[in-house]
Amino acid sequence: MKVLVIGSGGREHALVWKLKQSKKVDKIFCAPGNAGIGQIAKCVNIKPDDSKALIDFVSRNKVHLTVVGPENPLADGIADDFKKRKLKIFGPGKKAAMLESSKIFAKEFMRKYHIPTAAYKAFQTSAEAIGFCKSVEYPVVIKADGLAAGKGAIVVKNLEQAEAAINKMMVKRAFGKAGAKILIESFLVGQEVSIMAITDGKTILPLLPSQDHKQAYDEDQGPNTGGMGAYCPTPFTTEEVMEQIWEHILLRTLNGLKADGISYRGCLYAGLMLTPQGPKVIEYNCRFGDPETQAVLPLLKTDLFELMMSVTKQKLSSFTQLVWHEGSAACVVMASRGYPGKYATGVQIMGLPSKPEAGSFIFHSGTTKKNQKIVTAGGRVLCVMGMDKDLRSSLSRTYRTIRKIKFEGAFYRKDIGFKANKPVDI
Ligand code: AMP
Ligand code: GLY
Repeated sequence: MKVLVIGSGGREHALVWKLKQSKKVDKIFCAPGNAGIGQIAKCVNIKPDDSKALIDFVSRNKVHLTVVGPENPLADGIADDFKKRKLKIFGPGKKAAMLESSKIFAKEFMRKYHIPTAAYKAFQTSAEAIGFCKSVEYPVVIKADGLAAGKGAIVVKNLEQAEAAINKMMVKRAFGKAGAKILIESFLVGQEVSIMAITDGKTILPLLPSQDHKQAYDEDQGPNTGGMGAYCPTPFTTEEVMEQIWEHILLRTLNGLKADGISYRGCLYAGLMLTPQGPKVIEYNCRFGDPETQAVLPLLKTDLFELMMSVTKQKLSSFTQLVWHEGSAACVVMASRGYPGKYATGVQIMGLPSKPEAGSFIFHSGTTKKNQKIVTAGGRVLCVMGMDKDLRSSLSRTYRTIRKIKFEGAFYRKDIGFKANKPVDI
């Protein structure tokens, strides 16, 4: 069977790598891919948002399954375009993708279906938003309604900071039309956990829980990024917590989608805060997380291709459960100096092993080939993964590999997993 993966990051490299392990898959394409993906799949130079060109490619090459990595094509309705032409695609349609592309839509959905989340209020004008901020208890979180590449949430500690954030979003339009509407929500305290679940709209199967590290620097300092590293599973998601997540979040979300007549076939990601009052949803994503995918998929034993095909046919119930490897997996992102702000590209990467040690893998994020050399092409450059019997050993394996790789301006967090080593404080 032939598969096309859309996207060019570490998440897509992990998807390609995992799909390739299926005996049923004999050819994988990636549009547009990167230097690492090019070593295990055929990269095709089509942009992820060019739905027409992707449909042409899939039809001409008789691709059996298309898997969408990033959120933008889903928010634009690529899955609806494919479905109209009876082409199999893993990823939700435009309406379902609004759970990610409009935070106000997601909040209204959660309110309607009693899904626990932070208290909030939505605003269409900056004057009303600032007026509201005069009487709130700080901190609060100010969020752009639309897609802002992970940068649209700002935690503010006083009125002055709130005004600055509101002006940035609504007046200066720092995130374009994504900031035309905003919401202000109460600040939640606890451990953050990412739950990715596979659903065909009838059945939902959670993957193992993971924890991302959003801030750029050690001990959660510095600006928010797309994610600097992750590990799986987490010690905070005890059986009891998982039961609450299942009952109060996953099932209610699935039933809410059904009740609203919204079809969802793909990965539903719930970013959660484990608060003293129980797990609450911080955000939904309508796709796999990056870098969570690079830490979760290596532990999955179940055939990912079969799983995804069953979703497109709405036959996910044929899987009663997912099968996992024992142990733990971790991944650490190597980024370019300056990320998440401005950074250089075209910098040569040295020390990439031709064959990483067993239990370890180097997923490429922003890389490309230039004059037969692999060079940087993005803020997040590589995502090094290690798996082993427990978190400590998987992290040692990851950092052992990462220390061999060098490029000018490279930086990475040295404390991935640090919260797991602290006593559980929820
Ligand atoms: P979002 O764009 O909604 O995923 O928010 C980005 C990050 O901001 C989250 O991963 C959290 O670390 C933080 N955040 C967002 N909303 C809240 C909240 N209500 N309380 C505390 N932290 C939050
Ligand atoms: N790592 C967070 C995300 O994928 O949105």
